[in-house]
Amino acid sequence: MGHSITLSDVSYTYQSNHQPDPVLHDLSFAVDEDEFLVVLGPSGCGKTTLLKAIAGLVEPTSGWITVDDDPVDGQREDISMVFQEFVLLPWKSVLENVALGLTVQHGYGAKRRTAIAKEWIERVGLSDMIDAYPSDLSGGMKQRVGLARALATDPAVLLMDEPFGALDAQTKDRMQSELLQLWDGDKTVIFVTHDIDEALLLGDRVVVLSHRPSRVLRYIPLNFDRPRSDRRREIETSRRYGALKQELRAELGLLTT
Ligand SMILES: Nc1ncnc2c1ncn2[C@@H]1O[C@H](COP(=O)(O)OP(=O)(O)OP(=O)(O)O)[C@@H](O)[C@H]1O
Ligand SMILES: [Mg+2]
Repeated sequence: MGHSITLSDVSYTYQSNHQPDPVLHDLSFAVDEDEFLVVLGPSGCGKTTLLKAIAGLVEPTSGWITVDDDPVDGQREDISMVFQEFVLLPWKSVLENVALGLTVQHGYGAKRRTAIAKEWIERVGLSDMIDAYPSDLSGGMKQRVGLARALATDPAVLLMDEPFGALDAQTKDRMQSELLQLWDGDKTVIFVTHDIDEALLLGDRVVVLSHRPSRVLRYIPLNFDRPRSDRRREIETSRRYGALKQELRAELGLLTT
């Protein structure tokens, strides 16, 4: 089961050259415990900062974030993050990289860790590469290892920071379908992206952010049926999808002028 997460008037200001540099401005929204929430926002609007705040890795300058009514802190072991860049340890194999999260968070014995890691490596389709090192993997493979590592810990909350942003269009497509297949609806997901199609395909709801300092522009409940992996074409060619895509394009396009 996931956790409900609530953000109330969350603002974040960096200090650049001793000048305040506001990034997030009074963001308020809530995520249900079984929801796949997508945060859609233009490049540089503060999406990574926002996820770090939700993970408790940075503290909001003002406002507060709660997880099931408790204030968030960086100590929680049931919140996992998939980072924008591939963060695999180059000197460890695929198997060791995936097992790593389990070592830190769960305290399982070696046998159990290996079994769980192998299972997830198989589910992301990398069994053939289990003993390979990151330098032998393509970008898509590395990101799959990152995904397997995050999912292997079976976190209640999964924070995903544009995990497919660096991939070529075809690999991205495949990874999105894989994620739709792997997500079983038993955890909370917050997925950030600047890609409108990705937001519409994956989310139960989309929170749209403005340019920085980012505000919430709107919430869009999508309610496309799940499971979506085998309905992808149907969703992407639906009238509602097309209309929303146009609207969001205009909205995000207007914002860039
Ligand atoms: N440590 C920092 N100190 C000062 N400014 C920062 C710092 N980290 C990020 N910023 C600035 O804050 C803004 C938001 O950064 P952030 O990485 O959160 O945005 P983002 O939406 O994730 O961007 P992208 O789409 O490129 O991933 C950017 O303009 C960035 O330059
Ligand atoms: Mg980012």
